[in-house]
Amino acid sequence: MQLNETTAVLESPRDAANEAAPAKPLAWFDGRLVATDSPQAPLTTHAMHYGTGVFEGIKSYATPDGGAAVFRLPEHMERMRKGAQLLGIDFDPARASDAILRTLRANGHRDAYIRPLAWLGSGTIGLDVAPLTQHYMVVTQAAAVHLAGNAARLGVSGWRRNPATSLPPLKLCGGYINSVLAKREAKQRGFDEALFVDGDGFVVECTGANVFMVKNGSITAARHPDALDGITRATLVELTGAHSRPVSLDELKEADEVFVCGTAAEVAPIAALEDVEFGDNPTTREFQALYARVVRGAVPQYERWLTAV
Ligand SMILES: Cc1ncc(COP(=O)(O)O)c(C=O)c1O
Repeated sequence: MQLNETTAVLESPRDAANEAAPAKPLAWFDGRLVATDSPQAPLTTHAMHYGTGVFEGIKSYATPDGGAAVFRLPEHMERMRKGAQLLGIDFDPARASDAILRTLRANGHRDAYIRPLAWLGSGTIGLDVAPLTQHYMVVTQAAAVHLAGNAARLGVSGWRRNPATSLPPLKLCGGYINSVLAKREAKQRGFDEALFVDGDGFVVECTGANVFMVKNGSITAARHPDALDGITRATLVELTGAHSRPVSLDELKEADEVFVCGTAAEVAPIAALEDVEFGDNPTTREFQALYARVVRGAVPQYERWLTAV
């Protein structure tokens, strides 16, 4: 992912945007701001044993007025609410959003990655979660990029994605073991990232990003029931008019360009898929630049997606 390009365009380099950050970062934890590095969760924490939590990956960006805004915060909160509901965790999107904004302000972060997490705590070591305590935290970090550096090389994973019929494609903590296994395997094979493909040869998604392709000028967003319904994906479908439909691995290999997208990855060009090399990805780079402008409030039409910090 080429952040240099976007920061140059917008004249808001990351360090300048976050210059008000205090030396010691603060985190929101159950209703108050605390030092991020102070130990808080007991060893009996249910989420640590069983992955019984739900999280989001959100970003805020420095805006041209000198402030900052969170990109598509209500959509992230709604997805998190759905995951929390499945686990029986009480989740109030308005209060959860307020905690995010407070944490960003306390840390002086403008270009930031935001990680809210709701989880089940103590009360039993068993699998009936009803007696467990419930918790909510937010940490923010100066902006990080998922597929940092040059265009990524994708390897097809030997693992199948969690089927939606077993584990709904939401950001449930335990579900990400599947992504971790695929990422480890991809790295061991010399790739940067893994592509999940289903048993019928259809593209699902990457470990933390959705997949698009460009062929003869037409843009396609790979659709699959086991894939996370990505907010960046929806954003790009709206911005580019991409057609959302199932895509086979064979078709993806024949594409002119492939890119992946997600809140963390933003719009990331793919250099190669197994032994198939792609070229310069000019359309992807156009979308990358457009997305960078939209998330930073430089396109008035899409300011409705921004929540001011
Ligand atoms: C498995 C998976 N797919 C896709 C995405 C992209 O989703 P979004 O654009 O909502 O960040 C993510 C990132 O959160 C993810 O974890």
